Amino acid sequence: MRWTGLINHYREYLPVSDKTPVVTLYEGNTPLVPAESLNKITGLQVFLKYEGLNPTGSFKDRGMTMAISKAKEKGASIVMCASTGNTSASAAAYAVRGGVKCVVLIPNGNIALGKLAQAMIHQAQVIAIDGNFDDALNLVKDITANYPVELVNSLNPFRIEGQKTAAFEICDFLGDAPEFHAIPVGNAGNITAYWKGYKEYKNLGKSQTLPRMLGFQAAGAAPIVHNKIIEKPETIATAIRIGNPASWKSAVQARDESQGLIDLVTDDEILQAYRFLAETTGIFVEPASAASVAGVIKLAKAGYFKGQMSHRIVCTVTGHGLKDPKTAMKELPEPVVVKSDRKAILSLIGL
Ligand code: F0G
Repeated sequence: MRWTGLINHYREYLPVSDKTPVVTLYEGNTPLVPAESLNKITGLQVFLKYEGLNPTGSFKDRGMTMAISKAKEKGASIVMCASTGNTSASAAAYAVRGGVKCVVLIPNGNIALGKLAQAMIHQAQVIAIDGNFDDALNLVKDITANYPVELVNSLNPFRIEGQKTAAFEICDFLGDAPEFHAIPVGNAGNITAYWKGYKEYKNLGKSQTLPRMLGFQAAGAAPIVHNKIIEKPETIATAIRIGNPASWKSAVQARDESQGLIDLVTDDEILQAYRFLAETTGIFVEPASAASVAGVIKLAKAGYFKGQMSHRIVCTVTGHGLKDPKTAMKELPEPVVVKSDRKAILSLIGL
């Protein structure tokens, strides 16, 4: 079967009709890759939901195909978002494809270069503010409430609708929901969307069980864990550098209904998991994405999974490592330079 995007594939479970102009880059249908090296650490059967393989390199495309299609259906000509980078990259790509103008507000200096390049090359109007993501989102909420501009942050319910399809794909692939689902938490839209997706699929009889949702925030940006707004969030994982998540309440609901947890991981733990994934699984993610894996390693070390041998856990790895090559190179030595000479190369290889 040819894959033509998640709206076409899951149309019956989404709020679309024949009149909805579908704006798609054939997003979704991402692989669920087994991660044997993590099985060893956790005692579980670990899978990575490789969302970096979406068209703009992150899970945001799932929500954006819906948000931009519905904005067009409504007749909107301008869309707007605040972003730590990936939402803006995705909004810009889908807006240009749908023929609508896109405006993005970003925290000046705190978005990865690849994401900025994407928003710019897709012709979004990029405005960097002297403030953080939370400030940007407040401005976007205010402007979109008062002017004919469509908000395409995950406060837009169509974003959540699109993103819930990742849970459908996981159930379709595994034959049921996994026992656990681990996910990074920033603005908390994605944990909300997965939980909605898992619950809907079960209610439809398409799956039999529900997972425990395990959310992970960065230690310097963990408002849900501390149960208080963080005025100045800080983390190397700039994608989740958020102090007042928009979907805070529904993330807590997902945690509690699923009998899961929302915990924090330090920047060191994130970077260790980031390198571990690249070095042992062949999957290169951006730092924020490694938060889910870092969290699972932390829980495994603390004995959380004891007695759950061979249960299945899915970790969503949300964005591609190529988004942020600077962070990768900060960790790595420069390549060795030698003369263009066979002997020199053989001696370096040790042959
Ligand atoms: N991982 C990545 C790579 C992200 O870009 C984000 C959010 C998250 C995880 C967290 O997801 O917000 O649904 O809890 N990025 C947003 C953005 C905020 O603007 O691109 P969430």
